[in-house]
Amino acid sequence: MSRQKPLRVLVVCLGNICRSPAGEAALIEAAGEAGIELAVASAGTGEWHVGDGRHPQIVAAGRRAGLHIEGRARQIASPEELAGFDLIFVMDHSNLVAVESMAPELADRVHYFRAFDGTDQDEVEDPYGRADHAYDETVRVVRAAARGIVEAIVDGRLP
Ligand code: 4NP
Repeated sequence: MSRQKPLRVLVVCLGNICRSPAGEAALIEAAGEAGIELAVASAGTGEWHVGDGRHPQIVAAGRRAGLHIEGRARQIASPEELAGFDLIFVMDHSNLVAVESMAPELADRVHYFRAFDGTDQDEVEDPYGRADHAYDETVRVVRAAARGIVEAIVDGRLP
């Protein structure tokens, strides 16, 4: 099926400096590999890092894996902002609760980022404060999950 406009996809974590920027980059990569167009953004539920660059450890882990991670942190501002997305992917349960309490009417657009990775895991573990190998694992997990999301879009299981 061809679409008039690319699907608008938001990836959400807590700080918007580690997991959701990696997820955003991985979704852009996976969409490119599949030859589909997605308009991907990311945001955090928390305010601590608004305006900061991506965490140096996730940028370095991306670089080791050949995934370019960039951008500045922003916080989800309003239910109206969330309503501008066709699909919203959260990294963990606390993000899910935050998004669904801000915009309960959008619950059917909200999924775990790992929901389509073929494992029984829901959450992308928070690497913040951990060693470099945890960030390498974040990149590995979000890449596999992003490919699953894109497959689900291509197959029509999403949105
Ligand atoms: P992220 O990681 O949610 O993957 O961006 C975090 C970044 C910052 C904090 C927590 C998690 N923090 O508490 O400041």
